[in-house]
Amino acid sequence: MKGSAPTALIIVCMLAVAVAIAGYLPSAAAQATKVKPGGDDDLRAVYASPVEVAEGKRVAETSCARCHGANGISATKGVPHLAGQRAAYLHLQLRAYRQSARVQSAMDGIVRFLSDDALIKVAAYYASLDPPRPVVPSAAKAPPARPDPVAAGKAAAAGCAGCHGEAGISKTPGMPSLVALDPKYFVAAMNAYKTGQRKHDVMKSMVAAVSDADLNNMALYYALQKPARAQTPAPGDRAAGKAAAASCAACHGDQGVSGNPATPSLAGQDAQYLAAATRAYKDGPRKDESMKGPAAALDDRAMSDIAAFYAAQQPQPLNVRRPLTIAEWTERCDRCHGVNGNSTDPLTPALAAQRADWLEQVLHAYRTGARKSSAMAAMSALMSEADVKDIAAHYARQTARAVTYVVVPPAK
Ligand code: HEC
Ligand code: HEC
Ligand code: HEC
Ligand code: HEC
Repeated sequence: MKGSAPTALIIVCMLAVAVAIAGYLPSAAAQATKVKPGGDDDLRAVYASPVEVAEGKRVAETSCARCHGANGISATKGVPHLAGQRAAYLHLQLRAYRQSARVQSAMDGIVRFLSDDALIKVAAYYASLDPPRPVVPSAAKAPPARPDPVAAGKAAAAGCAGCHGEAGISKTPGMPSLVALDPKYFVAAMNAYKTGQRKHDVMKSMVAAVSDADLNNMALYYALQKPARAQTPAPGDRAAGKAAAASCAACHGDQGVSGNPATPSLAGQDAQYLAAATRAYKDGPRKDESMKGPAAALDDRAMSDIAAFYAAQQPQPLNVRRPLTIAEWTERCDRCHGVNGNSTDPLTPALAAQRADWLEQVLHAYRTGARKSSAMAAMSALMSEADVKDIAAHYARQTARAVTYVVVPPAK
């Protein structure tokens, strides 16, 4: 096969589906895509002959079927389906196992004893099989889309606005603004009211009604609102406050914008609340080791001056981004992996109808670097655990479609 560069269009029909040559129309089951044979062996498995595919079947029966199934459909957790997978991708991965670029004990022992020729044929064989059907319990439909966390946070925070202001910008002296609070600090503060580490009856009863999911959603909602100063008066001497606040800057930032998620920013916060909170660290209703010392050193006058200084500073947006929805994620994945995970690039794996447990396992492996791929490392690094589960479930549910590769000879 190698060297005998095709002179006419060779239709490689991965499902052994009859393909109408006129216009290269794919059959109903397969989509057509054009590939050019490369200089190296990358695409050889794509244009294997029927005889080679038959030889590949014998290799599969002897060496692979006990794990991947004779039909390429795995019944074993942690073992991927191979049926209908893109041939060149399968060959590439088999070579990666043999060269130990991809390490996995079950596979290493197998591929070490096979020639490259055998790897090409067995890849072509598995690629030629009918792809798996998605295993969705017959009655089950797609799960309801995950609610948008920011919209859910806004809804959950509706009852907070009366005291904390619309979008978390306080209009009531004594009520803290919640805008621009780091989500970590927000959650910690709420939990401190719950456990009584921060004593405050109103907030304690407020927190009791909030679920953990809503707590995180509200934290995200407030963190993403456009920051602005509290619309409340700030009596006190700003200039004196600036001088007195020198000892606070190491933790709260020069202009009251903290760089540490556990330390709140004070810029633009309501002045009366700032002074009261500082007093609470001094007098005891708030217990915090970092704040005890700084607060103890201040008298009421200094507290009110420092509060006036911080209230006048400009609060800054946080480096917090709205997480992607599953639809936004998969839209990105589909750019490389094809519509609904039906890749048309022979070197990029199809994901449709793959085992969900396998997809989760691989995404974790890319994230930890156990499996190396520059394309995938960046993608998986930003995924939360919930994203991994939902994305894997999404692709496992998709209908897998075979691809017909139309091999275009290089122009002479
Ligand atoms: C002892 C069980 C076992 C046998 C036998 C076996 N495999 Fe595998 N195979 C696995 C496991 C487990 C994985 C997942 C490995 C990983 O995590 O990288 C795998 C992964 C693969 C992959 C990577 C698929 C992907 O989507 O990334 C390919 C390709 C593959 N096997 C082909 C074969 C072929 C071809 C044979 C026969 C020559 C074979 N395997 C024999 C267990 C086996
Ligand atoms: C009846 C008025 C009221 C309502 C309603 C209310 N809060 Fe509060 N909240 C307060 C007061 C007063 C404080 C200051 C308590 C203190 O001194 O520790 C506070 C403090 C907080 C703090 C700490 C802020 C900081 O900078 O440390 C957070 C977070 C908070 N509230 C969130 C909420 C959320 C979320 C809701 C809605 C579920 C809510 N609050 C509803 C009055 C209210
Ligand atoms: C060693 C670091 C450190 C220093 C110095 C420090 N703080 Fe704090 N501050 C913190 C931490 C951490 C918290 C959060 C404590 C908590 O969770 O209740 C905090 C909380 C506060 C709060 C509550 C804000 C809110 O939104 O509820 C105020 C007000 C405050 N500090 C004022 C001051 C002032 C004024 C000074 C200087 C006199 C100062 N801090 C110095 C670490 C520090
Ligand atoms: C820039 C192109 C690109 C994008 C975008 C991309 N991938 Fe990939 N993906 C690849 C390539 C190339 C491979 C093969 C990498 C290798 O050799 O390990 C791959 C491999 C995978 C595999 C391994 C499949 C198997 O059977 O072993 C999974 C699972 C996967 N990608 C999921 C995703 C998901 C989910 C997304 C979206 C969040 C995504 N990919 C986005 C290019 C991409």
